[in-house]
Amino acid sequence: MITALYIVMLGPPGAGKGTQAKKLAQELGLVHVSTGDLFRENLVNETELGKLAQTFMNKGELVPDDVTVRMVEERLSRPDCEKGAVLDGFPRTPAQAKALDDLLQSMGSAVKVVPYVKVPDDILVERLSGRWMSQSGRVYHEKYNPPIVKWIDDIDGSQLYQRDDDKPETVCHRIVVYNDQTAPLIAYFREKGILVEIDGTQSIDDVFEDIKVAVEEAS
Ligand code: AP5
Repeated sequence: MITALYIVMLGPPGAGKGTQAKKLAQELGLVHVSTGDLFRENLVNETELGKLAQTFMNKGELVPDDVTVRMVEERLSRPDCEKGAVLDGFPRTPAQAKALDDLLQSMGSAVKVVPYVKVPDDILVERLSGRWMSQSGRVYHEKYNPPIVKWIDDIDGSQLYQRDDDKPETVCHRIVVYNDQTAPLIAYFREKGILVEIDGTQSIDDVFEDIKVAVEEAS
């Protein structure tokens, strides 16, 4: 019997996976597990994993599967993931998808639903080039989701920053890497009957409503 709820947010860089995953995790009382955030935390803490990840992230390349899978296995084994998790940015390759299936199966569970947030490339570039981040991971957009005071986090008043990998040339390469290595997962999850296409060009609130419906219908 599957009791824990695992949701995988799928979509290209800048589609809004992180924005929606945070809202969904809060709504459902689940943990938000973002591999990008985990790598960035390791980077800030100057761990060996962080140093390794940085060499790939700065180029817009994927961190090797074995390293990424080990990190996710460790994260999902913690007690706060007992009820499940909203996975954001993982899996990102067929090998990672297989590893996740095997891991959840060994826990007597499975991915329940995969909201696939679809956004065309030109909008992705605009979203990423206008994205402002807080040190604690809150995500803003200069135009679509601005903070109350420019460049200042609404919650803790700290200075916002732009991610190194949001430079236009790196963004374009990340989209190429996505199409090459991650897009095959659309067919993988569709074949399992758990993929739900979401129109990611709508407002943040409308996208969220569609995702909630997808999750409710799958549960
Ligand atoms: P990661 O941090 O996962 O980046 P990503 O997948 O490229 O996704 P993003 O965080 O850029 O975008 P998002 O879809 O979350 O959009 P967001 O909500 O922020 O990964 C970074 C790197 O880490 C990778 O390149 C790789 O090197 C490494 N990595 C991570 N996971 C890995 C893995 N599994 N395997 C190997 N390597 C891995 O929204 C974007 C902007 O748009 C924001 O400003 C937001 O406010 C705005 N916005 C959101 N929704 C809307 C909307 N509906 N309308 C208008 N604006 C919106």
